[in-house]
Amino acid sequence: MARAEVTLALAIRNLTVDDLPGCGWSGGGLHLDSVAAELDRAALGEVDYVAVCGPAGVPVAIGGVDFAPFSDAGYLWQLAVHPLLQRCGIGTVLVGGLEDRIRARGLSRAELRYEQHLEGNRAFYERLGYTPYGTAPDGWDEQLPGGETRRYETVCVKMRRALPR
Ligand SMILES: CC(C)(COP(=O)(O)OP(=O)(O)OC[C@H]1O[C@@H](n2cnc3c(N)ncnc32)[C@H](O)[C@@H]1OP(=O)(O)O)[C@@H](O)C(=O)NCCC(=O)NCCS
Repeated sequence: MARAEVTLALAIRNLTVDDLPGCGWSGGGLHLDSVAAELDRAALGEVDYVAVCGPAGVPVAIGGVDFAPFSDAGYLWQLAVHPLLQRCGIGTVLVGGLEDRIRARGLSRAELRYEQHLEGNRAFYERLGYTPYGTAPDGWDEQLPGGETRRYETVCVKMRRALPR
């Protein structure tokens, strides 16, 4: 089998509502509705929501930082890399871009949560210097293939990292 490698130039910019139809890979319709609502909060300055884009300007990863939950830290959430492009380093670029947004507001700590059973997420965040410090119950509505909605309940691990200047 022939093999080839490509280098991808990535840019980080704010996610816009016009990007959303092309972001179905990040979750179902309910998820995109919630991202649209977060873009309204972004317009008010409560959150930053970013897109990591390839050369065509199309998002290949998206995620947000919420400044409401903590007065002294930014809370990273809703991170997603296009499934076809996972484990290429793009998630690392996304977290770095979100951490820059935290620093830009004069804050020096990042917080996040991941679902306890997702060991790959733990490996990803620990590799980036995040430390676990407890667990918390969490839950959200999810859409089933038939279209109906159900409540999903889970346990998340809380992690944080002091951001170097
Ligand atoms: C978690 C996620 C954002 C990571 O982004 P990514 O682009 O795949 O991560 P990177 O390529 O920058 O880093 C990869 C490294 O993280 C760790 N990692 C990531 N996913 C992993 C997995 N499933 N299993 C084990 N290690 C994993 C490994 O150390 C890996 O390095 P390696 O490939 O050399 O072993 C991405 O996989 C994703 O979108 N997952 C689905 C949605 C999700 O879980 N979001 C996070 C919610 S908290």
